Amino acid sequence: MSHSKTTEWGSRIGFILAGAGSAIGLGAIWKFPFWAGTYGGSAFIIPYIFFTFTIGVALVMAELAIGRAGRGSAVSAMKRLGGPAFAVMGGIGVLTSYIILSYYSVVGGWCVKYLFDALGGNLVTSDPKLLADNFGALVADPAANISWHLIFLTLSCGVVAMGVVAGIERISKYLLPMLFVLMLLITGRSLTLDGAMQGIDFLFNFSFNKLTLESVMNAMGLTFFSLSLGCTILVTYGLYLKDSTDIPSSAGWISYLAIQTGILAGLMIMPAVFAMGQDPKAGPGLVFITIPLVFSQIPFGAAFAALFYVCLLVAALTSAISLVEVVVAYLCHEWHLSRKRASLLIYITIFLLGSASALSFGPWSGWTVGGKILFDLLDYVCTNIMMPAGGLAIAILAGWIARDKFRAQISQVRKYPEGVLRFLTFAVRYLAPVMVLLVLISGL
Ligand code: PHE
Repeated sequence: MSHSKTTEWGSRIGFILAGAGSAIGLGAIWKFPFWAGTYGGSAFIIPYIFFTFTIGVALVMAELAIGRAGRGSAVSAMKRLGGPAFAVMGGIGVLTSYIILSYYSVVGGWCVKYLFDALGGNLVTSDPKLLADNFGALVADPAANISWHLIFLTLSCGVVAMGVVAGIERISKYLLPMLFVLMLLITGRSLTLDGAMQGIDFLFNFSFNKLTLESVMNAMGLTFFSLSLGCTILVTYGLYLKDSTDIPSSAGWISYLAIQTGILAGLMIMPAVFAMGQDPKAGPGLVFITIPLVFSQIPFGAAFAALFYVCLLVAALTSAISLVEVVVAYLCHEWHLSRKRASLLIYITIFLLGSASALSFGPWSGWTVGGKILFDLLDYVCTNIMMPAGGLAIAILAGWIARDKFRAQISQVRKYPEGVLRFLTFAVRYLAPVMVLLVLISGL
């Protein structure tokens, strides 16, 4: 029997921070602000908050409940509750995490590189062309791209190898509070710039005519991605839950922290972007090109830029850790590897797979499927197909097949009013599958 079978989180707060660490990632700090920008500010933010606190939070509970009721890796937990077909879906969840990790780690590497540059004072410059060229040169340079990916992956696998409590929980307890404090600091700086109000306006100014089907669909998709749903992360974290931890309130906290961080990221970035007259819709280049440019024009900008990349790295790291843990838990339980060996195996193979993604920006950029290089292809397949499919399996398992166990799990510690239970069951049985199907269809 592997040692991790008896592992439990040290404290409820440690578990909540680890779960929030998984949720808060590049999705919150990088995607959310520019999507909110692109889709008309609050016309995107309001549906996003709505989806998070209805279907999102219900699915978070469903995953945690399945993990604790099934007490196994995602594969054995889902099999125990739903039979062999759900074991397969659990396996797909593990595979999804594995693939996401491979390309997420490449972007994590960029965060490490930008942090180093910022610390060395070599990052901020007011020349936009130079910044764009630097970023282009980094992603196209195989040696650099692969080396930074390796450094990021070493950190992620290293933490997981240390264990659930001594590694994941401990680091989350230090890093997440630090992340919030740093974000508040940068937000303070950003909001006190001349012209900052335009950024606020851009984020929160609501107009009905901006509310389009596209903005609503994308808000749904981001809810999914930013809560790390559908790839059995929270099933795995649920496996380590104490019997005495209340699932609904924990899920509420995780969802709240995820939303709060997204909004804080918007407040940290957009006012500064507007104050400095930059384009809020810069898209993917926003954090690697626009941000250094913005900081170059702000007093003490170099220091704030370094803090910003600390935030970005912390967010990416705690998410990557959760991806590694899903696969480690699987290898420990199903292949009976030790935690250290499992981490090492992932380290080596993800180094190779991630390197292929890294190369797809440079020498392998000619290899495309449907116009997408490998990096984009993997991201597309994972976020638009595999995660929603995993989410659908979770919703069916918790809402239909093992509904009684789901209800027992969520009311195990605290007795919630019958109306709350009914709503949650309804959300998992009906709302979540509909939402997931819509995400799937809109993704395709
Ligand atoms: N939630 C993470 C983010 O916002 C992304 C992620 C997805 C992490 C799936 C783990 C699993 O960046």
